[in-house]
Amino acid sequence: MTLMKKSGVFKLLWFVVMTITCLCGYGQPRNAKKISTDLFGIFFEDINYAADGGLYAELVQNRSFEYSPTERREWHPLSFWEYVNPGYSYGYVYVQTQDPLHSNNPTYVVIDVEHVGKEAGYTGLSGVGLKNQGFAGMVVKAGEQYNFSMFSRLLSNEPITLSITLQNPQGEILAENTLTISTSSWTKLDVPLIAKASHDTASLTVLATTKGKFALDVVSLFPKNTFKNRPNGLRPDLAQVIADLKPRFVRFPGGCLVHGDGLGNMYRWKQTVGPIEQRKEQRNLWGYHQTGGLGYFEYFQFCEDIGAKPVPVVPAAVSCQNSGGTWRIGGTGQKALPLDEMQEYIQEILDLIEWANGPATSKWGAVRAAAGHPEPFNLEYLAIGNEEKITPEFEQRFRMIYEAVKARHPEITLIGTSGPFHSGEDFDKGWQFANELKVPIVDEHYYTDPKWYLSNHYRYDAYDRSKGKVYLGEYASWGSKLYNAIAEAAYMIGLERNGDVVVMSSYAPLLGKMGFTQWNPDLIYFDNKNIYPTINYYVQQLFSTNAGDYYVPDVVALNRRDSVMVASCVYDSKTGDAIIKLANAGKENKKVKIDLSAFKNIQPVAARTVITGNEDDENKFDLPSKIAPVTDSYKVARKFDYEVPAMSFVLIRIKTKK
Ligand code: AHR
Repeated sequence: MTLMKKSGVFKLLWFVVMTITCLCGYGQPRNAKKISTDLFGIFFEDINYAADGGLYAELVQNRSFEYSPTERREWHPLSFWEYVNPGYSYGYVYVQTQDPLHSNNPTYVVIDVEHVGKEAGYTGLSGVGLKNQGFAGMVVKAGEQYNFSMFSRLLSNEPITLSITLQNPQGEILAENTLTISTSSWTKLDVPLIAKASHDTASLTVLATTKGKFALDVVSLFPKNTFKNRPNGLRPDLAQVIADLKPRFVRFPGGCLVHGDGLGNMYRWKQTVGPIEQRKEQRNLWGYHQTGGLGYFEYFQFCEDIGAKPVPVVPAAVSCQNSGGTWRIGGTGQKALPLDEMQEYIQEILDLIEWANGPATSKWGAVRAAAGHPEPFNLEYLAIGNEEKITPEFEQRFRMIYEAVKARHPEITLIGTSGPFHSGEDFDKGWQFANELKVPIVDEHYYTDPKWYLSNHYRYDAYDRSKGKVYLGEYASWGSKLYNAIAEAAYMIGLERNGDVVVMSSYAPLLGKMGFTQWNPDLIYFDNKNIYPTINYYVQQLFSTNAGDYYVPDVVALNRRDSVMVASCVYDSKTGDAIIKLANAGKENKKVKIDLSAFKNIQPVAARTVITGNEDDENKFDLPSKIAPVTDSYKVARKFDYEVPAMSFVLIRIKTKK
C-alpha cells in the first residue's frame, strides 16, 4: 500500500518535472536569440506548366475546349484534339457556344456522326470522335485505374454509344470502356478505365460508335491514384517531392500570375472554386492556359495535407507593370482597377478570409464546406500584391485593401511588397510606404549572380528591427550548379542568423517542366514521368528539415571578411538539438573552430550531412552523376576543429538532451 502510494507520488512528481521541462524547452542555450519558426517555406507559381500539365493530375489537355488564339496565335478550341473516324466512318466535329454547360465555360464541341463504317473484314472500332494527346502524351501504368468523365447533351433522337479508350501511338488499346448518352440536357457521365499495359505517350479517344449528334464538354481523365487520394487532386510523386521539403508555408498561386497581364487577367480566387465545370479558365500570363482545376480549394487542401501554412497572394488591384509585352523594361503597363470597383474588390478579399476561416454556416464558409472541408483552414497570412511598381495608383489601392482587411481581420498577418529587385527605386519606395502603413511583413524578391549572395549574406544584419519584418518571397542565384547551391546555402545561413527580422523565405520558381519552361533555373525539374531535384533542392530541404527556433551566436569562429566560408548554429527546442551549418563556396578546404559551450549535455555522436563535389556539377536529367546529401555519424566534443571541404555544405546535428 505504502509502496503503491510512494510510486503514485513519484509518478506525479515525474509528470510535473516533465511538463515543466517540455513547456520551457530543454533550457535555451546561452545567448540564444529567438528566430522565426516559419523561416523556410515554398513558393508555388503556375509557371513552366507547374499546374496544368504538372502538379494538377488531369491528363487531358484543353479538356473544356477553351483554348484560344488570344493565348497563342496557333491555338483554338480544338487544339490538342484530333478528329478520328476509324473504319471509314464519317461525320462532323464543330465548336459551339450556344447554351453552354455554364457561362464560365462557354465553348463546347458538337459531334455529328453521319455514318459508322461497317466494311467487311474490318474488326477494329468504327465511329467518329476525338483523340486527345494530353500534355505531350499521357503516362499510363498497367493495373492502375483512370477515371474518365465528360459532360454531354444528346442533340438527336436515339441514344448514342461511346467507346472510351486509351491507346498507344500504334493504336493498340491499353484500356477501354463504353458509355451511353441518352439525356438532352447537360449531364455528367463517367466510367473507370483500367490499364492492361503501360505506356508513356498514350492518348485518350472518345469515339461515338452509333449514329447521332451530341454536345461534349469538360472531358477529363484523372488517375485514381492522386496525392492523399484527393478527388481532383495532385500528381502523387510531384506532390511528394514538394512535401519532402517539409515547408512551413506555401505562397501561391504566383508571382506575376497573380496580378496578371492587364486587369482582365488578374487571378480572381472565386473563379477557381466550386465544381470544375463552373470555374473560369483563362490565359496564363506565362504563355499558356490555366484551367483553374488546381484552384484555391486544392491549394489550401494541399497545404493542409503537407502541414504547411497557406499564404495566398491577392492582387493589389493593379495589373503587372510588364502587362502588354513590356516585360522587364521598366514597366509602363500597370493598369489600376477603377476606384468605383474597389469596394466590390475589397469585399472579394474579405470573402476569401470568410471562405478560409469562417464557420460552415457562413456564406463563404458554406462554399468551402460544400467542397468537402467543413472545418476552417486556419488562414494566418495574406499577401497583398506581388512586386508591383510603386506608383500612386498602387499605393492608393494597396492602402484601401490593407486598411479594410486590417480593420475587419486583425488576426490575419498582412504581407506587403517592395518591387522585383534587391535595391533601387521600387525597393526603397515600397519599404518606405510599407513602413508608413506599419505593414507587419514586407515581401522582397531578387534573382541574381551567386557571387552577390556570397558577398551579401550580412544584408539583414543591418536591418532595423523596429520596422516591418522581411519575407524573402522569391530568390534564386542564376543557375543549378553546385556553386549556386552552396552560395544559396551561405545566404540562407545569413537568413537564419537574422531569423528575428527575416521571418519567412522561399526559393523561386519551384517547378519547371522539362521542355516547357519560361523561367530557369527552377528548384525541381520534371517531365510526365520523372522528377529531377536540383542540388539547390537538397539545400532547401536540409535547411527546412533542420531549422531551429533559436539562433546561437559564436559557436563557429569565423573571419567576417571571408566571403566564401559562412556558418550558423541554431537550436531546436522541441528536440533539444543543436544544428551547425557550414557553407564553403571556396576552392580550398577551410579549418574552423567549433565551440559548443553554450549547450549542456552534448552527446558525442552527431549526425553529419554533406553535399559536395565540383563547382560545375549539376543534377541534369541527361547526366548520370547526381549530387545528393550524404549522411554519416560524426564524433563531436565541447570544443573541436573541423575542416570544411572546398565547395561544400556541411550540416552537423548534435543532441544536447540526455
Ligand atoms: O518566379 C518567377 C517570377 O519572378 C514571378 O512570377 C515574379 O514575381 C518574379 O518576377
